[in-house]
Amino acid sequence: MALLTSLREPALKLAPYKSLDNATLHARIEALREALGPRLLVLGHHYQQDEVIALADLRGDSYQLSRMAADSTDCRAIAFCGVHFMAETADILVNRPERLAERGGERVTVVLPDLAAGCSMADMAMIDQVEACWDELGEVIDTEDITPVTYINSAASLKAFCGRHGGIVCTSSNAAAVLQWAFRRTSRVLFFPDQHLGRNTAFAMGIPLDQMPVWNPHAEELGGNTAAALQASKVLLWQGHCSVHAMFRAEHVEQLRAKYPGIRVLVHPECSREVVEKADVYGSTGKIIREVEAAPPGTKWAIGTELHLVQRLKQEHPEQEIHFLSPIVCMCATMYRIDLAHLCWSLENLAAGTPVNVIHLDEETARWSLVALERMLEVK
Ligand code: 13P
Ligand code: SF4
Repeated sequence: MALLTSLREPALKLAPYKSLDNATLHARIEALREALGPRLLVLGHHYQQDEVIALADLRGDSYQLSRMAADSTDCRAIAFCGVHFMAETADILVNRPERLAERGGERVTVVLPDLAAGCSMADMAMIDQVEACWDELGEVIDTEDITPVTYINSAASLKAFCGRHGGIVCTSSNAAAVLQWAFRRTSRVLFFPDQHLGRNTAFAMGIPLDQMPVWNPHAEELGGNTAAALQASKVLLWQGHCSVHAMFRAEHVEQLRAKYPGIRVLVHPECSREVVEKADVYGSTGKIIREVEAAPPGTKWAIGTELHLVQRLKQEHPEQEIHFLSPIVCMCATMYRIDLAHLCWSLENLAAGTPVNVIHLDEETARWSLVALERMLEVK
């Protein structure tokens, strides 16, 4: 079966797929994976639904998925089961100039099965807002002495901004090492879009909270700060957050500790400072999984991250007692948009030579984003 890329109308429309049951869709996707063999790579983020994860060749956290895209050599198409910024990152890494040259110029087609799978946190920092912030900062601080650090949960234009300005990308698994890298270069960091990951990481490195002012992109002047506060800062935090992780609260930790004595609380660093402070361990989705895998049977956990991952951990580790940290459902609605109907539709169009939902960045954005991503991949 050929993997042609085309700008033609999709051979297959989405609507009929929506009425197929999951067993039929699963079988059709399996048949395609078999026919396409190593030329197709299906990547799945840990927050994906079980039925999607079951069909992924590889699954991981954001850092692991970036590495998988960067290291892949055989594939000619990637179906990215995750959100938009992840597919953009895969496109930049898998189609970087050295890899393109190795393939004689042939691009790997990266598809996001549903283009509506975005990230509300990434949307909280727009490139024009970040550029305006940089210009305003320049009026009160020397921007040569600021390293811009963008969380990978951001549009490629922000990664490109970091590439151009001596900055770098981080994920939830390497944020501390990235901040150390940045502080070897400059005495200040501008961290966007997630204030919580920035604050939790910098605080653990010994930076006091009063040296971390928050930049509100909607404020009239200086992001709502005084010039003196900005001049005294070490880490300037962007006023962005994850609406899923915002639902975990300090009182949930207290309630579960009271109800289940000895329970261990494990949370993602996108949770607020108050929650992370009360937790026993925090880390990326990959770290959360490793912590549970390494724990002795009978360990009691309260886990504060996206529902699908916690439910999967519960099923895969019946020898442990796993509780969801919040009494309310905290799921990432955009991750959830990727379902078997969209995956099957996008793969069958790919095989028919009319790929849909192709993520292909313009050369300039890809080039500068790659600079910031490569700096991240080199950080140990
Ligand atoms: P990880 O890098 O920990 O997989 O997190 C991705 C994400 O979007 C968490 O909200
Ligand atoms: Fe974005 Fe939060 Fe969803 Fe992660 S969980 S993709 S940060 S909205």
